[in-house]
Amino acid sequence: MAPTDWLWWPLLLLLRLTLLLTSCFVSESVSTTSFPKDLEPLNVVNSEQSYQYPGFQGLLQDNDTLRLGLDFQRMLRINHMLYIAARDHVFAVNLTTASEEFVPQLKLTWKSTDVSKCTVRGKNSDECYNYVKVLVPRNDETLFACGTNAFNPTCRNYKMTSLELVGEEVVGQARCPFESSQSNVGLFAGGDFYSATMTDFLASDAVIYRSLGEGRPVLRTVKYDSKWLRGIYFSFAFVVFSRVARVCKNDNGGSPRVLDRYWTSFLKARLNCSVPGDSFFYFDVLQSLTNVLQINQRPAVIGVFTTQANSIPGSAVCAFYMDDIEKVFNGKFKEQRTSDSSWTPVPDESVPRPR
Ligand SMILES: *[C@@H]1O[C@H](CO)[C@@H](O)[C@H](O)[C@H]1NC(C)=O
Ligand SMILES: *[C@@H]1O[C@H](CO)[C@@H](O)[C@H](O)[C@H]1NC(C)=O
Ligand SMILES: *[C@@H]1O[C@H](CO)[C@@H](O)[C@H](O)[C@H]1NC(C)=O
Repeated sequence: MAPTDWLWWPLLLLLRLTLLLTSCFVSESVSTTSFPKDLEPLNVVNSEQSYQYPGFQGLLQDNDTLRLGLDFQRMLRINHMLYIAARDHVFAVNLTTASEEFVPQLKLTWKSTDVSKCTVRGKNSDECYNYVKVLVPRNDETLFACGTNAFNPTCRNYKMTSLELVGEEVVGQARCPFESSQSNVGLFAGGDFYSATMTDFLASDAVIYRSLGEGRPVLRTVKYDSKWLRGIYFSFAFVVFSRVARVCKNDNGGSPRVLDRYWTSFLKARLNCSVPGDSFFYFDVLQSLTNVLQINQRPAVIGVFTTQANSIPGSAVCAFYMDDIEKVFNGKFKEQRTSDSSWTPVPDESVPRPR
């Protein structure tokens, strides 16, 4: 399989795994490990100095913005345009002129229509807006956007140059979360839309989903199966690990007997961001990740990690070479015998095919 045949994601807090070693393990490792000191920054810009730079305050006359702020959700740069997805709006800033005046050249307003139904559902009424959580290029001319739309996720296509609506709305479920606070990822590859998100109102069903393509079947991860993905709504008794997951683009799903309409190529691996010592101190919660960039002329990603909520607060920046990540996906295959046991390596002869 060529590297371009697969896709992978950091699963931002989407995954949790039971771990029997909890805080006692962590505090022991800390008492014997000297915690690394923060590096000295090369340059610091304080808040007063930052006012010298052009800024965008948003819609100052808008009552919702005054109360809730702009609620930026996504940024997307295409050539000299910067698209900013926020609550009820998408802004497009022309970067050629932004160094003097940071004012959107285009503004799209997309509000939820069914706010009354939303307030009845009994959730926080600040969620009865349209938080635009997906904003990705669909092709050279079209942007694909999805919003929470007051707990009724919906997707639309817009013309890149004018932010004009193109075609019909489509259902956003499994493509966009129901709430602004939930993490999600989405991208187009080979005409298919791949998304990782919660698929339901209660945020109990996490999914990696492929849809909207022509010819390829719609595929998803197995529902409510913690071996695949473990939902974020589980309590703090579970420990969060940062993971990357990989699926193959040419995956057509299983047969009617096994994994019908499910991925057959789904694999996940742990991102190990740790500090050595007598025992390792782990930064296991992935907060953010760059796109693939070059480090030492090798494709790599850089992530910001923090510690578990029940651990000593700390953060770290770790970089991973893509070929190392690929090696892990081809390395030792582990399994979990029951849903709360630890993951252990499988003897070579028992590795399932396809993995
Ligand atoms: C914004 O709030 C002011 C003061 O509460 C009110 O008079 C005005 O009608 C509101 N504007 C809109 C568009 O709701
Ligand atoms: C951005 O602004 C420059 C200078 O005004 C203009 O020439 C260019 O066409 C604009 N780009 C887009 C994509 O509108
Ligand atoms: C994390 O990486 C370190 C350094 O390579 C290694 O010694 C340690 O065993 C790794 N931890 C896990 C859980 O794989």
